[in-house]
Amino acid sequence: MPISGMPHKVRLMSEKKPWAGRFNEPTDAFVEAFTASVDFDQRLAPYDIAGSIAHASMLAEQGILTAAERDAIHQGLARIRQRIEAGDFDWSVALEDVHMNIEAALTEDIGIAGKKLHTGRSRNDQVATDVRLWLMDEIGNIQAELRRFQHALLDLAEQEAETILPGFTHLQTAQPVTFGHHMMAWFEMLERDHERLADCARRTNVMPLGAAALAGTTYPIDRHFTAQLLGFERPAENSLDAVSDRDFAIEFTAAASILMMHLSRMSEELVIWSSAQFGFVTLSDAFCTGSSIMPQKKNPDVPELVRGKSGRIFGHLMSLLTLMKGQPLAYNKDNQEDKEPLFDTVDNVKGSLKVFADMVPAITCNKDRMRTAALQGFATATDLADYLVRKGVPFRDAHEIVGKSVALGVETGRDLAEMSLDELKQFSDVIEQDVFEVLTLEGSVAARNHIGGTAPEQVCEAIGRARRRLAD
Ligand code: ARG
Repeated sequence: MPISGMPHKVRLMSEKKPWAGRFNEPTDAFVEAFTASVDFDQRLAPYDIAGSIAHASMLAEQGILTAAERDAIHQGLARIRQRIEAGDFDWSVALEDVHMNIEAALTEDIGIAGKKLHTGRSRNDQVATDVRLWLMDEIGNIQAELRRFQHALLDLAEQEAETILPGFTHLQTAQPVTFGHHMMAWFEMLERDHERLADCARRTNVMPLGAAALAGTTYPIDRHFTAQLLGFERPAENSLDAVSDRDFAIEFTAAASILMMHLSRMSEELVIWSSAQFGFVTLSDAFCTGSSIMPQKKNPDVPELVRGKSGRIFGHLMSLLTLMKGQPLAYNKDNQEDKEPLFDTVDNVKGSLKVFADMVPAITCNKDRMRTAALQGFATATDLADYLVRKGVPFRDAHEIVGKSVALGVETGRDLAEMSLDELKQFSDVIEQDVFEVLTLEGSVAARNHIGGTAPEQVCEAIGRARRRLAD
């Protein structure tokens, strides 16, 4: 009720704020700006409008709105969508968020019917519905970029199926591997990321609308009808849960964090490989920058930045977990804070995937550098041990024999393949001329010829299986 002495102020407020009925004083100017979300949640507008269109259709279907009111709402919302798309929509901080801005514009446009749109719903179920619709679309977009990146990896793996580089454990030379095999390791990481996102989309695909503020509504709504119109799998089972939990957003950010962790590891390898000391790969100039002071520099900025961006995505996961943990049922304003971390996660994951998908086809493998590196560090020592075992030497003894051969190599600055047969024979007399076949890099990788192994033949098989998987 307006109190005497302030009628003008109250009238002004009740015109502006849809909820101002019980308020006698205007919102503090700073609080108004502080509590508003329209600056960032306006990106939900297309989903807010889609949700309202479906809601109005359902209300008319149930006899809660007339067909004429529904049509006026549909037409009004279509006009608002056009205005927003054209950048011709005046967003008002006084109207707090995307939902109230659109509703106020609708009422201004079509009059009384606009005021009926909010029947049987609340911003609480509305915002949860909008975010889920938006996220499902964005998961689809991210998955499309992931696939593009995976295809680029398959092409590179195919092209370099026989290229040999040293494989590392502890970043120390371990055994020779093929570059194609290494690319297929990246591919597999991304394949699991794709699955995790699909799984998250499945749980996001549940409609909160109809939960209203928290307890449901007294109107005879048909939630199955609305869910079907919006393309949701089903309406949420419990109204309190539907408006309050943001676990789908947390789950998405967790999947995004794991994906970024993978991209960060790939970045790290590219940074190492493209250094002057390794020189295994050359990144295209289009993905590097120079230094303003050191003329010789070509810095791998793109992988470095992606590696850095993983940090902020992990941070967003922590933000959302912390945001949720103390909240009693049902909706709390805390939840307005879910959007910026979520939006930033989507933008940066999409950007990182795009830049990787574009960069990978432009990677040049410096086969000679990789080969030279693989010839150092006794990468075929395990092959010599396996050779001895095949000739009847117990594995632990073989390990010892090879260890001594390596020690001689270290002492004389030579690889095992560079030693004479007589030199090797002093460690074990079962060693014959055929040992040199297993000491070559090609022999070493070709011998690991089973599913999951690094042999070029197996890499080609793995690429074939992966291509068939992606084609399904
Ligand atoms: N802007 C709000 C949000 O993002 C919308 C829901 C507001 N609901 C409320 N009861 N104040 O969460």
